[in-house]
Parts: sequence; structure tokens; C-alpha cells
Amino acid sequence: MAQEEVFKKLISHSKEYGFVFQSSEIYDGLSAVYDYGQMGVELKNNLKKYWWDSMVLLHENIVGIDSAIFMHPTIWKASGHVDAFNDPLIDNKDSKKRYRADVLIEDHLAKLDDKIDKEVQKAAKRFGETFDEKMYRETNPRVVGYQSNRDEIHARFAKALNDNNLDELRQVIVDCEIACPISGTRNWTEVRQFNLMFSTEMGATSEGAMKVYLRPESAQGIFVNYLNVQKTGRMKIPFGIAQIGKAFRNEIVARQFIFRMREFEQMEMQFFVPPGEELEWFEHWKKLRMEWHQSLGFGAEKYRFHDHDKLAHYANAATDIEYEMPFGFKEVEGIHSRTDFDLSQHEKFSGKKLQYFDPELNKSYTPFVVETSIGVDRMFLSILAGSYCEEELENGEKRVLLKLPPALAPVKLAILPLVKKDGLAEKAREIMDDLKFNFACQYDEKDSIGKRYRRHDAIGTPFCATIDHQTLEDNMVTIRHRDTMEQERVAISDLQQIIVEKTEMKSLLKKLSK
Ligand code: GAP
Repeated sequence: MAQEEVFKKLISHSKEYGFVFQSSEIYDGLSAVYDYGQMGVELKNNLKKYWWDSMVLLHENIVGIDSAIFMHPTIWKASGHVDAFNDPLIDNKDSKKRYRADVLIEDHLAKLDDKIDKEVQKAAKRFGETFDEKMYRETNPRVVGYQSNRDEIHARFAKALNDNNLDELRQVIVDCEIACPISGTRNWTEVRQFNLMFSTEMGATSEGAMKVYLRPESAQGIFVNYLNVQKTGRMKIPFGIAQIGKAFRNEIVARQFIFRMREFEQMEMQFFVPPGEELEWFEHWKKLRMEWHQSLGFGAEKYRFHDHDKLAHYANAATDIEYEMPFGFKEVEGIHSRTDFDLSQHEKFSGKKLQYFDPELNKSYTPFVVETSIGVDRMFLSILAGSYCEEELENGEKRVLLKLPPALAPVKLAILPLVKKDGLAEKAREIMDDLKFNFACQYDEKDSIGKRYRRHDAIGTPFCATIDHQTLEDNMVTIRHRDTMEQERVAISDLQQIIVEKTEMKSLLKKLSK
């Protein structure tokens, strides 16, 4: 199935089974804003819990906070967001459509990569087992031509971004003959910077109102609480502060479903270290975060690092963890060595000291920070994409299933009386009433057992327990496993332990390094 097709199916599956809805749908929707439905919220809460536990539960030196969305506006001046949290925008004069100049160029580069890959794939087919891909890439005139053209554009693009040279960005678009996908023309405006922060007013009267921002990242809430946490928690460096919370960005190119939203959620952890040790910690967190992603079991080949071409002025190292979405490898998490930039800026703008007295070194310093920052919604999308499957059954029927890691599944156990009568429903309810305190169960008695299995496959329920006439005699039920469809008979008294062992968060957490 074409990847575009898979993506469309994912979006409609998300809606059909109550994972994600367009916000304000009955009013024709609000662009790039989404709501999570009855299944989506459970999956999202489980995902957040997995991240939180992997940070706060498994690390004695990481604690959590929950800071407010509104913060003093000077914070955003200090952090650089008021002056520099911009996207370079360009308009097509014919279609009147607005684009991010950097995205237009990145898409063009991705097309060139595709062309090269297609040439290589064709040759691999032609030459069969004797094919030497490395040599082919280095010597085939067509591939070499594409590659050098790509490298030249990439170098100009990276330099223009680094130098903040908007005229050169436009020139790259013109020279590459990039056309507007709507009008098909190359009639472009100048490139302009556009600030991504939403603002509103706080205060009762317009004269006394203060302009405040909806935070564009949760990280600043951690920085401004650094000293509160360090002192009240008696934290010793190195230590980390974790937070999960909403962030808001007025994204111009908002597309690809929940990949790029205007209101989204982040899970961020700022790790405070002595100056000079930050690059070692950066490598440490790179390793741990990649391990966390891979623990979900979608395959190591689905993830890769992408080191930044353009380092933000405050960073001395940065990488993204990318996941292979149906529309290509895309960033789900950023890992950044942010130096002492943020704390120093807040010291400067607030006039308060944010230093740490290191008893081992017997001196005070402003700590350096390594940050891990992951988008909940992008992670959610990667999990849906990784677990969505269509299978042809032996009887020719098709089943759609979500092979979710059991610990993340919205429902762990479906409790299904074979029929409603003969006391089976009552027995099933009795089991449900006992187990519902331990994990998420769902009772379902409507439709044939086959249809009920399909419904639970579609929401990723890892186990179904069927209560039949025999159950009334031997107190045993049939457990059906989602992925293999295998069935086994187990005692009701063992059910709780079996399901807990296979679905508890510990099963994922145990895979991680200490
Ligand atoms: N504090 C650092 C920071 O915010 P970022 O790379 O801008 O870094 C971190 O964002 C993560 O937040 C990204 O890797 C992505 O997963 C998520 N994210 C950023 N913008 C987003 C958007 N518009 N919609 C959904 N997720 C977004």
C-alpha cells in the first residue's frame, strides 16, 4: 500500500475509533487544532506515564514540576523568543498562499534524495546480487550529478539559515525553480520573518492590561523554577527537572494531521550539569532517549538521529530523534546542549542570582543544561503509525488491528460473555467488577463474538476474555491474544495476575538502562 494511502487510513481510523477528532468539527473545524477522544486520551495518558516514570521514577536525581502556561512576559524577552522565535515566510503572489521558505527548500531537497534513491533501486534490480551500491553512488554519472546538485543547494541553504540571510533564502527558491503547489507559478514575494508566539492581554481594563504570551515551550517554566527546586528539594548537581505540559505556536505551515499543531503538548527534561561536562551528558541522554523509543518494539530501523546543520545561538550540540512516519523520517524529539544560556539570561533580566554552590569544587557557577524535549502528539502519531496493521485472514476476511505495546493500550482486557442469556452476562459482570480496580477493562456484549474481537483489534486491546457456558461449571475463561489470535483456557482466579504481568508499565520500564 502506498504510504500516502496508509496515512489517510490512519487519520480515518483515528476518528472512527475515538482516538483523534478535528477540534470544533461541528463548526467546520479549527485548523491545526485537534481533540483526543475516549480511546486517544487513554493512549496519550499511558504514553505520558511511560515517559514520566522513565524519568522521575527511574532516576533518583530527576524530579517533576507543573508550571503555569502564563508567565511574566519578560521571560520571553530573556529567552530570545520575542526577538528570534520566527519562521521565514514567503507568499506566492498568484495563489496568495503562504509557505515557510525553509520547508519549501527542504521539500525540494527531499525530492532530489528520492530521485537518487530511485536510480539506485533501479540499478540494484538490474544488477542483482553483484550490485555494489557504494561504488554505483560514487561513479554513476546521473547519480553523481544529482548528488552534487543536492549538496550545493544544501550548503547554500544551511549557510543562508545560519547567516539569517533572507534574500539568499529567496534566491535559493528562485534558482531551484521551486513552484507553488497550488498555482504552479514561481511568482514569489520577499522572505519575511514571522513570530510564532500567540499573545493575549491579562488584566481587567484595557489601559491596565499587560501583554502576555501563551508559552511556546514548557522549558522556560523549568528554568525559572530551577532555584526553587534545587533549594527546596536539596538537589545536588547533576540533577534534572521534568515537566509535561501544553505549548502553543502559531504555525504557518500546519499540516500532516497531529504532526504540526498550533496547540500541542511537550514532555521536557532539563538536566543541570557542571560547565564543561555538558557534551558528555549530551551523549548520555542521546543514548538513553533512543533506547526509550526503541523499547516500544516498532523496530530499530524506524528511528535515526539527525544532527542539526544550524545550531541555535545558545546551543553547542543538538540532534533530533526522527521516526519514519508514512510521510518520511520526521523529528519526534530534540536533544539539545543549551549551555548556560537560559539561566544566564534569566539572571540578567531578573537581576536574581541563579548559581549553584558546588561543595565538591568549593565554588559557585551557573549550571549548563542538556535538554530532552519530545512532542506528545508526534509520539502519539508515531505509535499509531507503528502499530497500524491490516491482515488477510484464512477465511478471506480482513482485520485491521493496532499492535500497540500492551502497556500503552487504552483497554487491557475486553470481557465478553459469549451470549447475553443463561447467566453468562452476570458472570462476566462479576469478573469485570473484580478486575476493574487493577487495569482498564471493557465489558462488551453486543454483536457476534467475531465482531467484538474485530472491534477490540481495531483499538489495540491486547487480550479478550470470553465467558461461555463451560465457565459456569469450571470457573475458567478463554483468553484470546490480539496479535496471534491464539486462544488459551485459564482459571478466573489467575486472570488478574496474567494480565497485570503482560500489561503493566513495568514491562516497558524494565527494558531501560538504569
Ligand atoms: N524546548 C525545546 C523545544 O521546544 P523544539 O524542537 O522546538 O524544542 C520539541 O520542540 C518537540 O516538540 C519537537 O521535537 C516536537 O516533537 C514537538 N513540537 C514542536 N512543535 C510542534 C508542533 N507545532 N506540533 C506538534 N509538536 C510539536
